[in-house]
Amino acid sequence: MTRVPFVAGNWKMNHTATAAGQWCDALRERLAAAPLPDGLELGVAPAFPALPRVAAEIAAGLPLTLIAQNAHRELSGAFTGAVSVPMLLDVGCRRVILGHSERREIFGETDALIARKLRTAVENGLPPILCIGETEPEREAGRTEVVLEQQLQRGLAEARAEQLDELVVAYEPVWAIGTGRHATPEQVSAAHAFVRATLAGILPPEQAARLRILYGGSVQPGNAEPLARLEEVDGFLVGGASLEAASFEEIARATARAKGLEGA
Ligand code: 13P
Repeated sequence: MTRVPFVAGNWKMNHTATAAGQWCDALRERLAAAPLPDGLELGVAPAFPALPRVAAEIAAGLPLTLIAQNAHRELSGAFTGAVSVPMLLDVGCRRVILGHSERREIFGETDALIARKLRTAVENGLPPILCIGETEPEREAGRTEVVLEQQLQRGLAEARAEQLDELVVAYEPVWAIGTGRHATPEQVSAAHAFVRATLAGILPPEQAARLRILYGGSVQPGNAEPLARLEEVDGFLVGGASLEAASFEEIARATARAKGLEGA
């Protein structure tokens, strides 16, 4: 089963359009000096105002998938401050992050809302990266699997299996996000195996086997390689370390090496 490794940066509320342009310049220079092997997908999720700037770089050949950090559940209407799936597609987005723990915790997004957004995204051709993950108290209470299963089942509840061929799941333990404390390879391996088994209960098992499961939470150039060597880890959703093109590119390179890509 070959799944294309995917390394995606989530910039969160960082980088103006100007800074995004500088980041793209730096990435382009690094890739020109030392190309990355084929067979690796790179992506970046800028804040909305920086999307057109990065889209222009992609149109000029920078090998990135443009990702939105969020989308509204409706296609248009009186929702001041919100951004819709058609708007994101029009500006060049090819994926959208849904269910990030910051959206859940800070903005109060429920599984039901995430499911509604996910349906809107898949019905309109914008494949989601669905983020799931337990908090520290949930892990300590032995509830990690219950939480992951609920978030998957509820988050996917409104979509049909045939709409989920391009689904990506990101396992992001909340206690590992922005803390410098990444999950151990044992924890990641167990969680990813559980996520895939759960997906195989929701979707046809051969479809579940094709989906990519990313790890997120304090991924750095120094810890990416052992995590990427795990069979069930198909890449990363990187926060802080994606803000610099250099560390993002180092994580991508470590992933390519770990996955044994030709020329890595
Ligand atoms: P950090 O890499 O900064 O821990 O953030 C992870 C994350 O939330 C990516 O979506």
